[in-house]
Amino acid sequence: MPWKPLDGDKFPTLGFHVADQMTEFLVTPNAGDGEPTPFMPTREQLEFLVRLYQLDPITGARVKHRGVLKRPRGWGKSPFVGGVMISEALFEVVPDGWDADGQPVAKPWSAVRTPLVLVTATTEEQTTNTWHPLLEMLRGGSAADYFDCDPMDSFVALSSGGRIEPRTSAARSVISKGCAYRRRIPRPDRGMGARQWRRPVRPDASQQRHEAGRHHNRDA
Ligand SMILES: Nc1ncnc2c1ncn2[C@@H]1O[C@H](COP(=O)(O)OP(=O)(O)O)[C@@H](O)[C@H]1O
Ligand SMILES: [Mg+2]
Repeated sequence: MPWKPLDGDKFPTLGFHVADQMTEFLVTPNAGDGEPTPFMPTREQLEFLVRLYQLDPITGARVKHRGVLKRPRGWGKSPFVGGVMISEALFEVVPDGWDADGQPVAKPWSAVRTPLVLVTATTEEQTTNTWHPLLEMLRGGSAADYFDCDPMDSFVALSSGGRIEPRTSAARSVISKGCAYRRRIPRPDRGMGARQWRRPVRPDASQQRHEAGRHHNRDA
């Protein structure tokens, strides 16, 4: 059974399914003292998911293996990307063929390998920007109970044996090892070039060089 487009879909995607799981299991961070509200991706956030989780209509495999999200301050990058990292750790994000209606089916990473999701950044403060909303989204909703995971202050222990954790200075030694998903957060004063995505630099060292006024990063 191959893919069957619905309503003029241009390509198959797991993006809608990922968004549905975010809404089902996560809450909106920074929502104040009132009742927790489910995290519902905005239209632009949904569009990003639809493209990020695009599938090949013949093989059903993921088409994109990395993504860059560049949006103004206050758009909701930090909580949204926190939601993507939780999705990669817990939700059904790995393609698993088509159902009887020709729609994509997915399974969690834990069905394939032990997930290790790293939140990486050049400074601890930058990791915190994503880490705090991530914990809030997880703790306020049903995800922790449903998936039997333990969102601790310094890392999230997954029942699969995997983890979600923030990493700063140790990034170079471990970043590529067994990592299911990583977010590299750019420094606010400098854009993030494609070279940096391919070859992660050691954040502390590059920060020091930058502060010393050297504009060329030899490691990158
Ligand atoms: N889908 C969403 N629904 C409701 N609120 C959201 C959503 N996405 C983000 N937000 C809220 O938007 C606000 C802005 O987030 P912020 O971290 O400042 O964005 P950025 O990282 O882009 O600067 C946060 O209070 C966050 O809770
Ligand atoms: Mg932010």
